[in-house]
Amino acid sequence: MLPGNPKYTGKKILIGMTGGIACYKICELVRSLKTNGAEVRVIMTRHATEFISPLTLETLSGNKVTTEIFPSYDSAHTEITGTHHIDTANWPDIFLIAPAGGNIVGKIANGIADEILSTVVMACPKPILLALAMNDKMYLNPIVQKNIQTLREFHFGIVDPETGFLAEGYEGVGRLADMEKIIWKIDKALFGNNSLTNKKILVTAGPTHESFDPVRFLTNHSSGRMGYAVAKEAALQGAGVTLISGPTHLPPPQDVRLVPATSAEDMASAVNHNISDHDVLIMTAAVADFTPCTQEDQKIKKSDELVLKLKKTTDILSDVAGKKGNKIFVGFALETENEIQNAQKKLRAKNLDFIVLNNPKDIGAGFNTETNSVTIIDTNHIDRLPLMSKEDVAKIILNRIKKLL
Ligand SMILES: Cc1cc2nc3c(=O)[nH]c(=O)nc-3n(C[C@H](O)[C@H](O)[C@H](O)COP(=O)(O)O)c2cc1C
Repeated sequence: MLPGNPKYTGKKILIGMTGGIACYKICELVRSLKTNGAEVRVIMTRHATEFISPLTLETLSGNKVTTEIFPSYDSAHTEITGTHHIDTANWPDIFLIAPAGGNIVGKIANGIADEILSTVVMACPKPILLALAMNDKMYLNPIVQKNIQTLREFHFGIVDPETGFLAEGYEGVGRLADMEKIIWKIDKALFGNNSLTNKKILVTAGPTHESFDPVRFLTNHSSGRMGYAVAKEAALQGAGVTLISGPTHLPPPQDVRLVPATSAEDMASAVNHNISDHDVLIMTAAVADFTPCTQEDQKIKKSDELVLKLKKTTDILSDVAGKKGNKIFVGFALETENEIQNAQKKLRAKNLDFIVLNNPKDIGAGFNTETNSVTIIDTNHIDRLPLMSKEDVAKIILNRIKKLL
């Protein structure tokens, strides 16, 4: 992905909607997929059109919405051919049915194709995902459960519904899953693979907070984006991922075990505690080098001057060096002078397999940006990479790791 190039550029996503209250949420989803570069087409069952007008989806997707298996030829759909259902079934890279009600689940599980949506499903050779949404009694109905099981057995992707406040006015299971979950399943189908299955990867990310009184702390500008991108990419490639994260504003990545850590000391103990059952450690966190010698119990009063005495924090990579064995250890370095020499020194001193040097002086690189410009250094090579998205940096790091594993 080039910097500024949205992630779904060139991807074709077909959305099927069935009749349920959650239809309104799909408008936002279509908009977000489009904003991120996807081409989107929508099929609505007749019942779905009772909830949301096709005009809304047509406007958001920028494409005609299909509602009929036999379109009337004097309608505006002049481009639609007699085999529109087959053309539509062959068109997408992925077919998401959302909301997917009990009716469509039952039809697919039993091989019924009696209107446009179920007909396209039957003809579709591409990955099909169903984001389930229905009343709790419908969802828990054993026939519906059996049908869902049948779909799983036939390798349909299922986004399970969540428990929460239902349209009926009470708590129960059946709510459409959060959009992050649905988008994650789309991403897995479009971009995922199994190249890291059975591998366990420990990633650290974000800044640390070093408190010196109950309300104040020292920190740095790390946003956590680089580490979150590595964790997400590793999970997309099938790894079991643990993400030890300092305080960030980022949503937790899906399918990743998140271990929060606040201070450098917390992070050191979390890494120590988790390292033994992981194959790889990737230290992207911007861990504080210094922490206040003392932490006051009460808020320090305002005065003309405040002198803080700092002490060195635990060096995490040195701390776990004894546990390396056959594991792959990758460090990150951020240097503002003698960058290469300092990174090489760190590589050797900490016995790393390779080190990723951020070039923070480059425009668009380092902290708090969507992109990064890095140099990857091992004992034999120095590879300076161009500016790219943090997701692409993550892919390159993981490709290197795969060669070493
Ligand atoms: C107000 C209302 C809300 C509904 N919500 C859902 C729902 O969330 N999930 C579901 O499976 N059915 C829901 N139904 C029932 C479906 O609309 C019904 O099963 C319909 O036959 C589905 O047709 P379709 O699959 O062709 O869209 C709802 C019905 C009404 C009247």
